[in-house]
Amino acid sequence: MEYELTIVTGASSGLGEGFAEALSGRTRRMVLVARRQERLEALAQRLGKLYPSTEFVSMRCDLAQASQRDELLARLTRLSPGRTLLINNAGLGDYGELAAAQIVKIRQLMEVNMLAVAELAHGLLPRLQRDGGDVVNIASLAADVFLPDFALYAASKSFVASFSEALRLELRGSGIRVLAVCPGPVHTEFGSVAKRDGYDCGDMPLKSCFYTSADAVIRSALRALEKGDARCYPSLKVWISGCLLRLLPLWLKRTILATRPRRVSIQSGKAS
Ligand SMILES: NC(=O)c1ccc[n+]([C@@H]2O[C@H](COP(=O)([O-])OP(=O)(O)OC[C@H]3O[C@@H](n4cnc5c(N)ncnc54)[C@H](OP(=O)(O)O)[C@@H]3O)[C@@H](O)[C@H]2O)c1
Repeated sequence: MEYELTIVTGASSGLGEGFAEALSGRTRRMVLVARRQERLEALAQRLGKLYPSTEFVSMRCDLAQASQRDELLARLTRLSPGRTLLINNAGLGDYGELAAAQIVKIRQLMEVNMLAVAELAHGLLPRLQRDGGDVVNIASLAADVFLPDFALYAASKSFVASFSEALRLELRGSGIRVLAVCPGPVHTEFGSVAKRDGYDCGDMPLKSCFYTSADAVIRSALRALEKGDARCYPSLKVWISGCLLRLLPLWLKRTILATRPRRVSIQSGKAS
């Protein structure tokens, strides 16, 4: 087995579930983390039948709660030693302008997308440094651009990408690989979770051309990890978009984004 322990946050759906499945045969113990315990248990049961040599453990945790993050880390650090892979995948978005955002959602997004990523990496580093292992942080193509109507999400993913790059350099020579994965849009539950009630979030122009399958994202990410890459942009179109976004001058990005269609609040009928 390549890893003694693999931890996948956000394993109850979408990319996290896919990562758990793809890595099952490569780890002795797999810890599945999310809030929806019944989903985690169903996944653990299904994968347990397919990969009998892997032990599946579901750990219910609301990563938006500091006390639950602490509890999760305490449980993880008690597990038997060995090479460890941390997949910081849990995340959420919130479509719409900041002015109309709910404070609860703002806090949740920042805690899950940023604090949980940093705290889990920090809490597991002693184990990784002692026993070896790797860290995969799921960022987004949105890490390379500021996005009105999705401002906090894009900023949180810039944090993940920047944090991953810096951590990778801090750990240079330790054998610990750190990868930031930057997918474009993927069909998962992400869109419905990010949508606000009564808000027409529409779609960005050409967004539908950029969809990548969850399988392709996972395959590219695991290949990039193998190669020791710093970042992974799954699919050619997403990679080209990432290059363009990083090359475009700030003024041009501002000009383009200023022409975005204003989204309309269905309840008030006004641009919100
Ligand atoms: N789908 C896309 O278009 C896309 C594009 C680029 C990047 N990403 C990133 O990919 C990652 C996975 O997203 P996805 O597309 O697979 O979306 P998803 O299907 O909505 O999955 C999100 C996962 O995060 C978990 N999560 C959310 N809030 C949590 C909390 N407070 N505590 C614990 N777990 C929590 C959810 O579990 P519970 O609800 O059960 O807690 C779920 O398992 C995210 O970081 C996302 O930002 C997605």
